[in-house]
Amino acid sequence: MDIENRILRRHEYRNSSLIAILQDIQAEYNYLPKGALKKVAEGIDIPFSRVYSAATFFKAFSLKPRGKHLITVCLGTACHVRGGPKIVEQIGRILGVGPGDTTKDQKFTLETVNCLGCCAIGPIMVVDGKYFGEVTPAKIDSILKKYEDNSKKKKVLHDKRG
Ligand code: FES
Repeated sequence: MDIENRILRRHEYRNSSLIAILQDIQAEYNYLPKGALKKVAEGIDIPFSRVYSAATFFKAFSLKPRGKHLITVCLGTACHVRGGPKIVEQIGRILGVGPGDTTKDQKFTLETVNCLGCCAIGPIMVVDGKYFGEVTPAKIDSILKKYEDNSKKKKVLHDKRG
């Protein structure tokens, strides 16, 4: 049984569960592939256009492949004044991506938002739901390092043992 059918079955093919089904599909793929949307439309017997408009209406859904880690930088007024654009620039310098882009190795996706509701500690950067406040360009490198693949560290340990 494929991923889409497993999820549809879990939701008992109810068309009232459309948003929950899309959330589960996005959790599996990190985005909503077009083929999956078609299967959902067929599975719960509603027009593809309805599934597509739900997928495009909510900002939490993405129709483009996303990286393993989602970086969100706030560019609302308060964060903008406190240096939000410099944070975006610095991330771009380190990862080679602009807002809306995903790194070639599919590790990071960079997005911007307008106000996350905690302006007092801006500029704000969020990685996979974890908030970092009063971020400066100098802090970005160490924040991103926490999310890098640790396979290199494992290799070093292995080499030391071997
Ligand atoms: S403007 Fe960034 S949290 Fe409000």
